[in-house]
Amino acid sequence: MYNEGMLRDNALKGKTILVTGGGTGLGRAMSKYFLQLGANVIIASRKLPVIEQAAKELQEEAGGTVLGLSCDVRIYDEVEKMVNAGIEKFGKIDVLVNNAAGNFVSPTERLSHRAIDTVVDIVLRGSYNCTLALGKKWIAEKQKGAVLSIVTTYAWTGSGYVVPSAMAKAGVLAMTRSLAAEWGRNGIRLNAIAPGPFPTEGAFSRLFPAEVAKMMDPKTKIPLGRYGELQELANLAAYLVSDFSSYVNGDVVTIDGGEWLYGGGEFNMFSHIPKEMWDMLEEAIRSTNKKSKE
Ligand code: COA
Repeated sequence: MYNEGMLRDNALKGKTILVTGGGTGLGRAMSKYFLQLGANVIIASRKLPVIEQAAKELQEEAGGTVLGLSCDVRIYDEVEKMVNAGIEKFGKIDVLVNNAAGNFVSPTERLSHRAIDTVVDIVLRGSYNCTLALGKKWIAEKQKGAVLSIVTTYAWTGSGYVVPSAMAKAGVLAMTRSLAAEWGRNGIRLNAIAPGPFPTEGAFSRLFPAEVAKMMDPKTKIPLGRYGELQELANLAAYLVSDFSSYVNGDVVTIDGGEWLYGGGEFNMFSHIPKEMWDMLEEAIRSTNKKSKE
């Protein structure tokens, strides 16, 4: 059931949606579903041949019209060019999905300052560049708009070994909430999704390299005991960019099977205690209680 599309046919008809990093991984899955729901989609990434190929494949798989554009979201001029090219093709852009990201695991003291810049620039600068370029247009032309940013649960808990990403995603979440308050009056909504582990080639090869995956299974931290399916994320994203969520503004929706709360609850690791052991533990606890009463 959760592998199926959720919204009704043509739920996004008439909308043009720009998805940064839309050629691969989560961005591609969201783009595909937006197309199936009748939207025009613009996908952008740094490598033109890759994005053109992805645009062609997406159009074949899902129908609709896809425009593939090359853009380094870190560079404001390139972002403006991308936005203008999209408007030239489709007449307007209604929705921005800040999905492009860069990340890899590393002890922070091993990173060069340039490595930190690289991740922060792609994630934070890239997201505010795109949001600013489109927001200026929407406000100047009195057009409604929606921005959906893909963040992460460690945007608010923080996380070791991905510190540049944590700093940048926290900034994207702060931008989402701040601009939701400021631009709401202009008919512009900003929301975010915080996904837990959704296996995609790009993220998993950098976050759970094969050697690490052998040592620790990320699934053991997920109460629901499984990874997310791409369609589940696409369903949530489609809802948040559609007019069905017109009154949702400034929020972040977590979709992680309960993973981050599991990590935070002091006794949640007790789920590793085998059933048989609970009889023994109960007896030990009860006898301590009894002794303290005597
Ligand atoms: N450990 C430590 N430093 C690393 C590193 C690693 N695994 N990978 C890259 N760096 C450093 C580089 O050495 C360089 O620093 P230096 O100039 O001091 O040597 C800096 O980071 C930039 O690397 P470079 O390869 O030039 O950057 P890039 O812009 O081509 O690549 C990345 C960006 C590193 C984020 C790359 O992983 C990427 O393009 N990812 C995109 C997709 C992605 O990350 N998806 C997952 C999202 S969850």
